[in-house]
Amino acid sequence: MKAVRIRGYGNEPAIDDIAMPEPTEGEVLMQVQAAALNPLDIQLQAGYLSDWFPLAFPFTLGTDFAGVVKRIGYGVTAFDEGDAIIARPNPSRGGGFAEYASVPAAACVRLPTPLTPDEGACIPTAGGTAWFALIDSANLKTGETVLIHAGAGGVGTFAIQFAKAAGARVLATASGDGVAFTRELGADRVIDYRSEDFAALDEPVDVVLDLIGGDTQARSFGLLRQGGRLVSTVSPPDAEKARSKGVSASMFALDLSGDRLAELVNAVVENRIRVVIDRKVALTDFRDAWVRQQSGHARAKTVLIP
Ligand SMILES: NC(=O)c1ccc[n+]([C@@H]2O[C@H](COP(=O)([O-])OP(=O)(O)OC[C@H]3O[C@@H](n4cnc5c(N)ncnc54)[C@H](OP(=O)(O)O)[C@@H]3O)[C@@H](O)[C@H]2O)c1
Repeated sequence: MKAVRIRGYGNEPAIDDIAMPEPTEGEVLMQVQAAALNPLDIQLQAGYLSDWFPLAFPFTLGTDFAGVVKRIGYGVTAFDEGDAIIARPNPSRGGGFAEYASVPAAACVRLPTPLTPDEGACIPTAGGTAWFALIDSANLKTGETVLIHAGAGGVGTFAIQFAKAAGARVLATASGDGVAFTRELGADRVIDYRSEDFAALDEPVDVVLDLIGGDTQARSFGLLRQGGRLVSTVSPPDAEKARSKGVSASMFALDLSGDRLAELVNAVVENRIRVVIDRKVALTDFRDAWVRQQSGHARAKTVLIP
């Protein structure tokens, strides 16, 4: 079968022909129908996350994928052959950019009827970060105002919709065609970060979802109301700065263990969140999509189809 693999940190991903994996105890063998690209894949490949998610080489990339159960390993009772599922194993395990993947059953949930495999594959990392960062970490409430940086990206497209569903007023940053796109997703006000200074906004915000870090994060503090919350997915905020401004600020790290993947998928369905797929690419043509994801300027989600 075909798989996109790397042979070491920083090694260029390549298509390899390898043996089909075997499901061991507690695992299911999935025929992968769709796998989503995330900045996480780029960071794993580059070795930036090796302290948290060490990789064994050769490593098959792909943390978020969906497909059909082909075989079940010993002890699996939650799924049967033929079930449509979404998988999000520990990032150290990867395996999704391939025609087949063997995955712990505990890292899978059923694909709900209204969703296609393409949509299901896009949900775990991007949707999970949006949902848990906004709802758990930032505790966003009805009637509050949230500023979402990078509204046109993978996390941002989910975050705008979750925030609207929670009854918040949504401000977002984007640029170029991302401005109209972000507005169409429901943002009440969009700031083109290339031509306008978001830090000069004339309305205070209760929550900042920082998907950019650096200067963008630092300049966001000034927009927060007293008691406001900044949550960053990128870099740990300055605790002293937060204290001096009377706000809270935290770094978010996605944890999709236990029942959290199921909670997330339910939240997507119940809140009628649109999974926005910018492009679908054959697995064997992954290279351009990889470079685009690496650029930091992708739109919404890109899906690889084995
Ligand atoms: N800590 C965690 O657990 C966790 C989990 C998930 C994601 N993350 C991180 O969160 C970040 C966002 O993830 P993602 O999946 O949404 O990434 P993404 O899809 O690659 O985001 C791309 C978007 O960022 C926008 N962008 C780039 N620079 C910008 C700026 N200065 N201001 C506003 N928008 C800007 C781009 O818009 P333009 O093309 O218009 O510039 C593009 O639409 C990544 O750094 C990712 O690694 C962390």
